[in-house]
Amino acid sequence: MASRSAKKKPAKKRTAATKKAIAKRSTAKRAAKPATNAKPKLYASLVVQLLSLLKGENNFIANAANFSALLFNSLPHVNWAGFYFLQDDELVLGPFQGNPACVRLPMGQGVCGVAAQQCETIIVPNVHEFPGHIACDVASNSEIVVPLFDGERLLGVLDLDSPIIGRFDDQDAEGLNELVTVFVAHEEGLGV
Ligand code: SME
Repeated sequence: MASRSAKKKPAKKRTAATKKAIAKRSTAKRAAKPATNAKPKLYASLVVQLLSLLKGENNFIANAANFSALLFNSLPHVNWAGFYFLQDDELVLGPFQGNPACVRLPMGQGVCGVAAQQCETIIVPNVHEFPGHIACDVASNSEIVVPLFDGERLLGVLDLDSPIIGRFDDQDAEGLNELVTVFVAHEEGLGV
C-alpha cells in the first residue's frame, strides 16, 4: 500500500500547466502519427478475417464470394468488388458484390483485360481517362485490378471500382495483392 501511494504522488503534484503540456504533447503525437498507417492496418485485419472465412472451407465459388463480400463491406468508397476468371482466352464474371456487370471481357481490353494480359496490378485514378475502359457501372470513377496466379498460370483478376477519383493507391495494391496471395494459397492447399 505504501509503495502505491508513493507512486501516485508525482501525478498529484502535476500543475495545471504540466497537464496542459502533456495533453498538448499527446495531441501532437496523435497528429504526427502518419495517417498512411490506416490502410496497412485495415488490410492486415482483412487478412485475418479472410483466413477465418476460408478456414475449413474448400468450395472455390463460396470462398471467392465471401472474399468479395469482405472487401465490398470493409473497404470504404467501393461500389463494386469481384472476380473475373480466365476461360478460353477471355475473362468471365465470377463472384462479386455490386451492380450486375459485364459477363465477358476480352483479354487485352478494358482495365481487367489489360491487367490480365500484362500480368500486373493496374491502378486507374480516373477510368474516364483510361483508353478502352469498359463501363459496367456508371457510378465508377476509379478502379484497381489485381491479377491472380496459380504459380505462373493466370487464374483471373480481382477488380474493385470506386465512385471516388483517385480512390486506390500503392497501399491498396499491396494490401489487395497480399489478400489475393492468401486466397490463392488457400485454394492451392486444397488442390483446387
Ligand atoms: N471496368 C472494367 C470492367 C469490369 S467492371 O468494372 C465490373 C474494365 O474496364 O475492365
